[in-house]
Amino acid sequence: MKALVLSGGAGTRLRPITHTSAKQLVPVANKPVLFYGLEAIAAAGIREVGIIVGDTAEEIRAAVGDGSRFGLEVTYLPQAAPLGLAHAVLIARDFLGEDDFAMYLGDNFVVGGITDLVREFRATRPDARILLTKVPDPRAFGVAELDLEGRVVRLEEKPAAPRSDLALVGVYLFSPAIHQAVRAISPSPRGELEITDALQWLIDHRRTVTSTIVSGYWKDTGNVADMLEVNRSVLELLPPSNEGTVDAATEIIGRVSIGAGATVRGSRIVGPVVIGAGSTVANSYIGPSTSIAEDCRITDSEIEYSIVLSGSSVHGVGRVEASLIGRNVEITPAPPIPAAHRLVLGDHSKVQISS
Ligand code: DAU
Repeated sequence: MKALVLSGGAGTRLRPITHTSAKQLVPVANKPVLFYGLEAIAAAGIREVGIIVGDTAEEIRAAVGDGSRFGLEVTYLPQAAPLGLAHAVLIARDFLGEDDFAMYLGDNFVVGGITDLVREFRATRPDARILLTKVPDPRAFGVAELDLEGRVVRLEEKPAAPRSDLALVGVYLFSPAIHQAVRAISPSPRGELEITDALQWLIDHRRTVTSTIVSGYWKDTGNVADMLEVNRSVLELLPPSNEGTVDAATEIIGRVSIGAGATVRGSRIVGPVVIGAGSTVANSYIGPSTSIAEDCRITDSEIEYSIVLSGSSVHGVGRVEASLIGRNVEITPAPPIPAAHRLVLGDHSKVQISS
């Protein structure tokens, strides 16, 4: 069995965090979301992984390398343009050969991994197995309709009027039957070869498409509240560690991981918290569910339930909460407002001063 990981795409410029980098590299608890997917694939016993790359190919290659540190053998598969998830399967044909494969969308995060899913697939060998999850607004997803026995009867990509609240999660298991399906379909109104259409083709041609409903799912939607929440849930499982320097005036409570070369002085850190390599925290409070990435500087400040990306500094600001701070950001106090006005006014002046 192989894996096909989709890390292409145009490099969306809409969201603050993906403005300058690939969305699959958005960090969760200081680790790119893509790495959780690669770890899940390795944990499921898969070794050969094809990674679809697009505009941001160099960044993805620099981050993942040959895959050996995940215990994987990675082959990069360039996609000239993001023409759809089924298009990615089309161009991976030679790499995939006649093997079954797991397709994993690089910007998705599935709590609990895919090991059980892969085991079930191997035991039952349907033509496709999909993951579904209940979401409050399914219009941004592929949506599945099940019959009374729980069989998938219909799939629709980003429907304006969803027929259920079951969204397709970005992990799919396929037999080689999918290759015929992706060749048979045509581009959707948004100009993409949709994997939902390929799945529907399988259903319409009486091939078996089975589903599992999961909870604990997140994808990079640019929604800050969701990102803080997935960061929180991953930090809950963080093993405490200290590879940095912590002075005697610092108090550490709960699960806290401090990276190599990081320095913590005169501070109170209440976990779960991760502080990345090379960062400095001085005279500050870092509260639960906070990820501080590498090479940050937090001084004379309080931060809680937040994510701070690499190279950023926060100095002298009272309290920062529920915030997502990008890379190389500088936060400093605004100049103080004068407490009194000193005036030299000529006779008969009229002056308005806002109080
Ligand atoms: O995340 C789950 C959703 O993913 C499903 O519910 C939808 O049915 C499915 O179509 C897909 O929807 P999106 O439109 O949100 O997919 P997105 O364009 O974000 O692409 C998902 C990943 O695949 C992302 O890491 C980029 C990569 N990609 C995407 C396209 C279209 C490629 O590598 N090549 C592509 O051509």
